[in-house]
Amino acid sequence: EISTRDWSSDVCSSDLWDRLDEPAQRAFAAHLEAVNWPLLAEMQRLVAGDAHVSASALDLADAVTPRCLRLGDQSNPIPPAAAVRRGGEALAAGTVGAILVAGGQGTRLGCQGPKGLCSVGPVSKASLFEVLFGKLVAVRRRYGRDVPLAIMTSSATDADTRRFLDEHACCGLAPERVFVFRQDDLPALDAADGRLLLDGPGHLAVAPDGHGGMLVALSQSGGLDWFGAQGVEHVVSFQVDNPLAMPLAAEFLGYHLLAAAEFSTQVIRKVDPAERVGVVVASRGRHGVAEYSDLPAPLAAERLPDGRLRFHAGSIAVHAFTKAFLDRVAARDDALPLHRAFKVVPCLDAAGNRVVPAAPNAIKFERFIFDLMPLADRVCVVEIDASAGFAPLKNPAGSAGDAPEHVHAAVVNHARRLLAKAGVRVAEGVDVELAADRIIDETDIKALLPAGTVLESPVVVGG
Ligand code: UD1
Repeated sequence: EISTRDWSSDVCSSDLWDRLDEPAQRAFAAHLEAVNWPLLAEMQRLVAGDAHVSASALDLADAVTPRCLRLGDQSNPIPPAAAVRRGGEALAAGTVGAILVAGGQGTRLGCQGPKGLCSVGPVSKASLFEVLFGKLVAVRRRYGRDVPLAIMTSSATDADTRRFLDEHACCGLAPERVFVFRQDDLPALDAADGRLLLDGPGHLAVAPDGHGGMLVALSQSGGLDWFGAQGVEHVVSFQVDNPLAMPLAAEFLGYHLLAAAEFSTQVIRKVDPAERVGVVVASRGRHGVAEYSDLPAPLAAERLPDGRLRFHAGSIAVHAFTKAFLDRVAARDDALPLHRAFKVVPCLDAAGNRVVPAAPNAIKFERFIFDLMPLADRVCVVEIDASAGFAPLKNPAGSAGDAPEHVHAAVVNHARRLLAKAGVRVAEGVDVELAADRIIDETDIKALLPAGTVLESPVVVGG
């Protein structure tokens, strides 16, 4: 009655079935029935395939770095002022929505629960969520319209994220303008034979399906229709780990709109081949992102005659899409390929004992949202200064880069620069922060502090 399917060839340790009591057998059967079996077959084929073949179809041999617009650069083919104006019009018209990709956990950073709960405010101690949601509040203040926000969670972060939003009254966002949806999990497979792994009695080892899971999850949860019902025509997406992210910068949106792009993306100048950022490349008339882990070291280190890296457009995972493009690609079931990652996955051995392998034993599968780029008919790449828009929190304190202390310094330095532009001086060694929900740029500071002000002690300006 539980099921007639024979799982024994797919599930490692399937003889453990008999040791489960009946309720546990039922739960396990339901768990197995929920597995997408045709997809599993595709994943098993990938396990057997060549481990060094990249999932994205980019041909790097003749790829180049595409032409980029630069934020604030008067020599751009589209003048910055025109872009600021056009982006501002879209924000004021309420046609822009946002997706925050927040499926990741903060465990590795020593912070319990979703990464969004990690504190990044050097003075306020505000969390990533508070800072990032605050930016949407600041946009509403300036342009008079809400930016509908869809937040993608994972099985690991969903409950805590929803609780956070309840307890913090959506950080000032209108609750009816916030839509939380959950990405799927995919099973991890035994790297040796492609069988499913158990991470506990009657429980499959699974992992989130990558931020590319956003496409299917957003569409199936009704999120795309939710955006449509609010008049959204363009959607930006950004990652939860970057407190300096500026996905709603009017100038960026303006370039996206004036270039009539289906897919626009922000990049920073990659200067060191070892930087762990994907790179935007163009090959045979199409754009794409080559992930840093897929870029062979000699290619990553190759330089142009002028000294720049051949692949220097570092992706910071801030994208803008037309809603029509998302609708079109969401209707295809082959839009995003599966990427493989060899990982250590604790699991039950054949005798039912939990083991933590010393070396990677399993393959996890993920889809990446930037793999949509080659499907877009027009792509616009906009280079920004890393110091103004990229300070990702990736590593624990004490790491060589992207650790809390680096993020802290980057946030303070960014605040100091904007304050200086507004004529405000900050005493040496003093930490300052800008209230994310009030200050977009120096014009907001000028409205709060007269030029010539000197800040002598730590403060949240506008807080
Ligand atoms: C990512 C990008 C890389 C880019 C860099 C910029 C990928 C594969 N690579 O690298 O090209 O240059 O960021 O910082 O994305 N997430 C989910 N669900 C998942 C997996 C991830 O929501 O299943 C979210 C995380 O919460 C995080 C973001 O996606 O916000 C990035 O994931 P992470 O694994 O940290 O990517 P990186 O390897 O740093």
